Amino acid sequence: MELSHRPRRLRTTPALRRLVAEHRLSPSELILPAFIREGLSEPAPITSMPGVVQHTTETLKRAAAEAVELGVGGIMLFGVPEVRDAEGTASLDPDGVLNKAIRDVRAEVGDELVIMSDVCLDEFTDHGHCGVLDAEGRVDNDRTVEIYAKMAVAQAEAGAHVLGPSGMMDGQIAPMRAALDAAGFQDVSILAYAAKYASAFYGPFREAVDSQLKGDRRTYQMDAANRREAILEVQLDLEEGADMVMVKPAMSYLDILADVAEMSPVPVAAYQISGEYAMIEAAAANGWINREAAIRESVLSIKRAGANMVLSYWASELAGWLRQD
Ligand code: PBG
Repeated sequence: MELSHRPRRLRTTPALRRLVAEHRLSPSELILPAFIREGLSEPAPITSMPGVVQHTTETLKRAAAEAVELGVGGIMLFGVPEVRDAEGTASLDPDGVLNKAIRDVRAEVGDELVIMSDVCLDEFTDHGHCGVLDAEGRVDNDRTVEIYAKMAVAQAEAGAHVLGPSGMMDGQIAPMRAALDAAGFQDVSILAYAAKYASAFYGPFREAVDSQLKGDRRTYQMDAANRREAILEVQLDLEEGADMVMVKPAMSYLDILADVAEMSPVPVAAYQISGEYAMIEAAAANGWINREAAIRESVLSIKRAGANMVLSYWASELAGWLRQD
């Protein structure tokens, strides 16, 4: 055949393929989400997320130090408290599980790793919702936002570099920014979970944080049917002062990620969530897919769609492979 183009030419050797690769991953753009549970003496495995644990203080510090060794960019901390109440008060206690974990990790790794923390009430409330409830049992947006602003200051005081508000309350960014600035934390950044969808793929995370939730989060997280609305959510968070924005989940929302990457003037993160992790681990455990190849491809796809950084439970393991490449 006389063909003007033979795209296969550039695929003939691994070296050529490497040369023409449009995207590549590096450890520094990976963020490791990690759970710490109060009152544990040994790390507790999470059944639906094989390989992921609820950490003790000691194992969390080790995981953070290992992430630094591997060149991972950041760690996102989630706390599981022993005692929960309707208002999630343990979230504001300077010695509460999450604030203490931030302090411990900061003492362990200093500025070598970007320390991020979850600003949300769902781990701290006895009803499992991301905010406090009003008399009718609805999530009270404005009162919740007031608490987020206080949580932000508590987490900044503990030593977080970046705060990750994940509750999807309206107007949650500006009051956090104002409270941080008033407390002298002008340099603590906000990574806004701007476009966060109500997803069935959060299932394993609910086990990871012993979630008390009955029902769902559809009155505050976005509807999977909506694409345009993600742009509005991002615009609002930017107007309110978000330093970075996130799309979540990642793999079922690559179109949203591509849209946001196109319009966002700030760095864009994507969260490869618990259900995405669990699906690949389960298929690999059954011998149905090649585990390492599937993990690499899944994270690379998220990067290709436009993410500048990816939160992934495989962050450290993947960083190790990337360093070997
Ligand atoms: C809420 C929060 C959730 C996740 C991160 N932050 C759960 C939810 O919205 O129900 C999910 C992360 C994952 O599934 O890996 N604080």
